[in-house]
This record gives sequence, C-alpha cells and structure tokens, in this order.
Amino acid sequence: MTTTANPASAGPAPWRSLFLEHISKLDEPYMSVATVGRDPHSQRPVPRVRTCGFRGFFGELPLHPLAERQLKEENQLNPRIYESEMLSFTTDVRMEKVEHFEGSDGAIEVVFWVKDVMTQWRLRGKALVIGDEAGKPAEEEARAEILKGLRRRRGEDTRSSKDGDDADWTWEKEVTAYFANHSPIMRGSFKNPPPGRSISEIPDDPNLRLGQLVPDLQDPIARKNFRVVVIRVDEVDQLDLSKPEECRRWKFTSIPTEDGERWEEVELWP
Ligand SMILES: Cc1cc2nc3c(=O)[nH]c(=O)nc-3n(C[C@H](O)[C@H](O)[C@H](O)COP(=O)(O)O)c2cc1C
Repeated sequence: MTTTANPASAGPAPWRSLFLEHISKLDEPYMSVATVGRDPHSQRPVPRVRTCGFRGFFGELPLHPLAERQLKEENQLNPRIYESEMLSFTTDVRMEKVEHFEGSDGAIEVVFWVKDVMTQWRLRGKALVIGDEAGKPAEEEARAEILKGLRRRRGEDTRSSKDGDDADWTWEKEVTAYFANHSPIMRGSFKNPPPGRSISEIPDDPNLRLGQLVPDLQDPIARKNFRVVVIRVDEVDQLDLSKPEECRRWKFTSIPTEDGERWEEVELWP
C-alpha cells in the first residue's frame, strides 16, 4: 500500500512542543492507559487502567542504536519522512485492552504526571491497532485511519528527499522497527503463555513459554502476537499546578479539516 500523508504545511499541534519537552523530563516515559471493557457477567461497562511505555509519536520512533543497526543490516529501516501527534505504544494482541478497543470504537485516555514541571497531561482519542498481515480488513482500516494523522516532516514537503521518499516507507518496516526496539528478552514476551489466563492452563503449544530470547526480527510466533497501538488524539487536557495560587488548565480539541486537522484551544477553570 502506498502512503500519502498530509503535507507538512498542515503543521504541528499547538501542544506538541511543550508536551515533548515535559515528557523528556521523565526518567522513563510511562503512562497510565485507560480503556472501557465489559464485565463478563453483567455486561456493564467497566474502566480498566494499566501502565504502558510511551514510544513516541507515530512516524518518529526514536530508535535504540542496536535496533537501528539490525534494521539497517536487514534493509528494514524506513526513511524518516513523517511526523505526527499520534501517541504509540506496543502490546500483545492477546491482552484485554485490544478486546476493549474492538468493543468501544477504540476509546482510550492516557495520562502522564510530570512532577518536575507540576503538570498533568491527559490525552484522549481513538486507539488503532496495527501489526497484523496487510490486506486484512481491520489492519487496512487502522492503517488508513492512522494515515489521516500522519504528515510529512517540515522542510521536506516533496516527493523525495535525501532521507528517502514515500515509496520506500512501508507499514511493515515501521512495525518491525518497534519490534526491533525491544530487547531479545522483551521480544520473547510475545511468546509467553496467553497473558491473563490461569497458570493452571498449560498451553498445548510448546513454543509458548516464559523467558525466551528472540533475536530474530521476523520470529513468526512473536510477530503474530506483537502489535503497535497508535492513538489518534482528539482532545488534550493540560493541568498546570506549578503555581498553587494560580493553577491553570487548558483544553485542546482537534477539528477535522480538508488537509488534516486544526486545534482549538480553550483555557478552563482548573
Ligand atoms: C512499567 C511497566 C511498563 C509496561 N509497559 C507495557 C507496554 O508498553 N505495553 C503493554 O501492553 N503492557 C505494558 N505493561 C503491562 C501492563 O501494565 C498490563 O499488565 C498488560 O498490558 C495487560 O493489561 P490488559 O490485560 O488490561 O490488556 C507494563 C507494565 C509496567 C509495570
């Protein structure tokens, strides 16, 4: 599938640079991720929250040097031509949060507390899950939706640049880069027995075990379970508690436009 992202002129979101500056102050950028599930007995909606590692904005994954080397050696390195304000994290397709996305049109909110700057960031939107085979309807739908939030990097708004061109960029390479960024032991976690199931249930498949090392970027079992979750953010709530006598709060809302989106900013009573 070819990609046609938004032009760089669509411009960055107004909250982008401050958000990135704040996140860079965290030792490790973990976030709390909330989804909406259903109680299996009563079927009523139930909130679920868990910690996940923030892996940057989609299209601009910061690569570990070892990952970059392995991707280069295997000719799997995408050109760096895109940017976005879509948050990304990785997960295992067998985990409950993926089921929650399917049953809630991708409803998601994540929250970061950055104590150094006394600011809380809550980002809401729609979670899109990629990493399955190309051509599957859900995978293609997710890719198409993500594309709407992707734009060319500033200053490189041409079909080609020294960093490569659109034709060299593929979804498969991008997902592989996220996988490569995990250490071999973390890659092995995608070959664990099914997460969340009782340990009394011993998997029939002997390939599913704890503590496996996966050096291979294309390990078929690990890659079958590995997914990248991309959040198309449509609302951001920034709470600044740095001055106790003058707390401030802003809401940024995305308004869809012809060439992407524009952001409306409103200051709220905290
Ligand atoms: C520090 C830390 C980082 C974590 N990072 C991730 C992550 O990036 N992705 C993920 O799916 N789970 C991550 N987990 C595990 C989740 O918190 C959670 O246990 C798991 O995703 C299963 O959640 P679910 O059954 O609600 O889907 C992390 C846990 C901790 C404590």
